[in-house]
Amino acid sequence: MKIFLATGNKNKIEEIKKIFSMENTEILSIKDGIDIPEVVEDGNTFEENSKKKALEIAKFTNMITIADDSGICVEALNGAPGVYSARYAGEHATDEENNKKLIANLQGIENRKAKFVCVITLAKPTGETYSFTGEVHGEIIDEPRGEYGFGYDPYFYIEEYGQTTAEMKDLKNQISHRARALAELKKNIDEILK
Ligand code: IMP
Repeated sequence: MKIFLATGNKNKIEEIKKIFSMENTEILSIKDGIDIPEVVEDGNTFEENSKKKALEIAKFTNMITIADDSGICVEALNGAPGVYSARYAGEHATDEENNKKLIANLQGIENRKAKFVCVITLAKPTGETYSFTGEVHGEIIDEPRGEYGFGYDPYFYIEEYGQTTAEMKDLKNQISHRARALAELKKNIDEILK
């Protein structure tokens, strides 16, 4: 069976492919030369955006499609950047610019609690959608650590492992918000596809 992965983020494609590999399933993405239209992420929640992306692209490709909407929520910033994580410092902001803004906004603030959230939606071209959420808790540190991952990973420290998610080589794909949401989808996939 073929499942299309609706994301333009190459880091996410790599992570999801590693986590979601299943027998008899081929995961296709823009990396296989299939162009997809840009979906406007105008929802107020990760779930709304994730569903919208999955559904629009499932209809466009006529394939069962998985989409991810994810981001970081910082307690002391009332959950910001949240759904705006990718464009926290502006519409086409780089990871570096987003991180810089986050660290600046946390100067002098003691509460560094944060969580990564991911909502994975599987959509069928016929319009049904199935969404699953995963979270991982940690704290924001001022100095970057680690060279793996992407986005906010170098600043997201998890005490239990003594590492940022950018210092984790294989561990991130076992414990991340994305891994947890995908594990829930995997648990339910037979039922969804029957
Ligand atoms: P999306 O493509 O709209 O879902 O944007 C998600 C944004 O949240 C990314 O651009 C990153 O900035 C951030 N993000 C999501 N997942 C992760 C992760 O696993 N590590 C670091 N940053 C992440």
